[in-house]
Amino acid sequence: MESSAPRTLEDCRALDGRDPLAALRGKFALPETGRLHFDANSIGAMPADAPGRVARLLAGSWRDKGRRSWSTEDWLEKPRELGAAISHMVGAAPGDVVVCDSTTVNLFKLLCHAWKLRAGGNVILTESHNFPTDIHVAQGFVRLLADLGVEAEIRMAESRDRLADMLDRDVAVLYLTQTDYRSSERWDMAEINRLARAADALTVWDLSHSAGALDIDLAGDGTDFAVGCGYKYLCGGPGGPAFLFVNPAHQGAAWPAIAGWMGHAQWDRFLADYEPAAGVSRHLAGTPAVVANEIFGAAADIWRTASRREVAAKHESLTGTLIALLDRECGALGARVTSPREYGRRGGHVSFAHPGAGPVAEALADHGLVGSFRHPDSIRFGLSPLYHSHEDVWNAVAIVKDVLQREAWRDPRYATVAI
Ligand SMILES: Cc1ncc(COP(=O)(O)O)c(C=O)c1O
Repeated sequence: MESSAPRTLEDCRALDGRDPLAALRGKFALPETGRLHFDANSIGAMPADAPGRVARLLAGSWRDKGRRSWSTEDWLEKPRELGAAISHMVGAAPGDVVVCDSTTVNLFKLLCHAWKLRAGGNVILTESHNFPTDIHVAQGFVRLLADLGVEAEIRMAESRDRLADMLDRDVAVLYLTQTDYRSSERWDMAEINRLARAADALTVWDLSHSAGALDIDLAGDGTDFAVGCGYKYLCGGPGGPAFLFVNPAHQGAAWPAIAGWMGHAQWDRFLADYEPAAGVSRHLAGTPAVVANEIFGAAADIWRTASRREVAAKHESLTGTLIALLDRECGALGARVTSPREYGRRGGHVSFAHPGAGPVAEALADHGLVGSFRHPDSIRFGLSPLYHSHEDVWNAVAIVKDVLQREAWRDPRYATVAI
């Protein structure tokens, strides 16, 4: 889709009329109240058939068949099936992605794994603006190594322009989140992977604020390892499982960090001695979360039908429209877009700053527009190419303008701000 900003509501409707993904909106159960949830960066919308699928699973499989369902249903295959269903969205082959555990746990698994396979060096290089859980996982890992008598060090780039200089031969693993969770600045993965390879460092990427919105090409960009959240743009359900990717070049090497029975080559023989399963499956640890996977399955069926290029093109058009309208309608009212304006440098969401951002976010929610506040002065809007339209964007900006113009956000009832 073209990205030149529409100027009128009719322009927005015309863009929606040409949207090749328009039919996918009907596959989601959007809020009945007509509220606009611009929070796909936090919790993606509910696929319309998720409740029915869960109800069938609970009654048909759990209640009526009980433990027989482990053999009659595809519960144990789900991590691979779901991984295959979303793999094209991140530019990976179907067999190189599995859906399991949380992003945090998968970060730990793959950071350990990358460390084991490193060419040399003992430094994990990241940035100080990385998401807290990413940094905590690295800190915990380095402490674990220290407890075991192994020296390792975390180095943090304080700003993005420092990273390339810090990527020297001491670096074992380059450990980054592609899209910054506050500003939405995005790393150029192909370029960073190239720099890492030149320094003999392995890459571990967190795609939580990218997957399901951007055009990601893990295989083409030479990524070593990646993880990502399942419940944001991927719409896998609140707190639902995450995904992990391992480059085929690394799949056969080394035991996984968590050697569990679901990652055993012959798990159903209940052998005492561990033998890693082939490929990415060895990174499965324990029993899959069956109910959560059923919800994710409803989203996966939608992703199977989506083209990565069309998703990214619509995302560019939606976010470009949002920025242009915020500038035009709300700039003079104190809203200042802080996300990059160039699409190649922008991730999933659009952030703007306002001195009253916390109460403004509360007032917006009360007026039908849900975004998220981030300390100290930022509001984030996460747009999904699967279920948002340009007309939604038009309506959302009208709400922002109204709340700012009338200073509705100054009402004391908006003083308590949700995260
Ligand atoms: C970049 C990033 N990584 C990881 C997470 C969360 O990981 P988990 O699902 O393990 O809590 C978030 C949550 O917002 C995130 O923004």
